[in-house]
Amino acid sequence: MVLEASIKSTDLSIGYEYDYGILWVVNSVNIVVWRNTTYCIIGESGCGKSTLGNALAGLLPTYAYTNGYLEIEGRTVVRGDETNYNGVRGRIVTRIPQDPSSALNPYATIGEQLVKVIEHHYGVRENALEKARELLKLVKLPLEVIDYYPHELSGGMKQRAAIALALAPMPKVIVADEPTSNLDAYLRGVVASLLKRVQRELNLTLVFITHDIALTSVICDYIAVMYAGTIVEEGVSSKVLHNPLHPYTQLLFKAIPKLGYRETLSTIPGSPPSPTSYPEGCRFRPRCPVGFSECYKAPKLIEVKPQHKVSCWRYA
Ligand SMILES: Nc1ncnc2c1ncn2[C@@H]1O[C@H](COP(=O)(O)OP(=O)(O)OP(=O)(O)O)[C@@H](O)[C@H]1O
Ligand SMILES: [Mg+2]
Repeated sequence: MVLEASIKSTDLSIGYEYDYGILWVVNSVNIVVWRNTTYCIIGESGCGKSTLGNALAGLLPTYAYTNGYLEIEGRTVVRGDETNYNGVRGRIVTRIPQDPSSALNPYATIGEQLVKVIEHHYGVRENALEKARELLKLVKLPLEVIDYYPHELSGGMKQRAAIALALAPMPKVIVADEPTSNLDAYLRGVVASLLKRVQRELNLTLVFITHDIALTSVICDYIAVMYAGTIVEEGVSSKVLHNPLHPYTQLLFKAIPKLGYRETLSTIPGSPPSPTSYPEGCRFRPRCPVGFSECYKAPKLIEVKPQHKVSCWRYA
């Protein structure tokens, strides 16, 4: 199978404007996400996952700044400091938010919302309601939900409705930002499997941002590990999960609690740096148990094994 790029970024940086200037929270990200695959982004809170996801979906706030190059499905959306998501945002790429209520209008039924999105993108259509029913079927919601208001749905049903809404424009790329973190363990698995099935059936590219590392082994084809605004490790999910190379990834995986074990939880010493004061060189250096003098220079993300990249001087 020939892999085609769905998303390509070169030195993509993203910052937010504060009173004292621009705070760059995502720095020089180079990624390629292949079509029809699931690409997971993991990493500690505040490392920039949502910022990167919002840039892919064209949903950054007006006071955000971008720099570098970003291409979605062959369309250049970021070049230098110019952005242009016309015809891409909400059509080629859509987003599933963490909180489904933020995607659903409380004053309209699920059917009305689906029809509105379909008609917005494809014009008024007699068969829009039929399409809405098909979408509900696809996400395994009972058809009567078409007449329900969001408050009449359970948390899991709301998340499925939000997925249906994201699928309504028939996008090529979906960015799902922690779509399962508000759900219980059982529903997390159900919703993640549903997303994976839909991704395969509709040949979508799925970017899945999550804190739930266990879930990545079930649904991801590729994993990117972010730390303090940069990608420190990336590769085929089985390689990253079974043979993590970066000291941060190794410690992150060790910190996952295991069912049935009462051992003391392993933690990563220290805390992630603030974007206002990133350390010189490798950003993980102050917390790294195996750092050495070379780490005062910034490492690059390089392929050290087939389909497995790492940004660490130990492998340079
Ligand atoms: N809308 C915003 N305006 C200003 N700063 C922001 C905004 N959103 C995020 N930030 C800052 O950008 C940095 C990265 O935040 P981001 O939300 O991307 O992290 P995250 O990895 O998604 O975290 P979490 O896992 O907690 O969701 C943080 O320092 C945060 O304070
Ligand atoms: Mg986030």
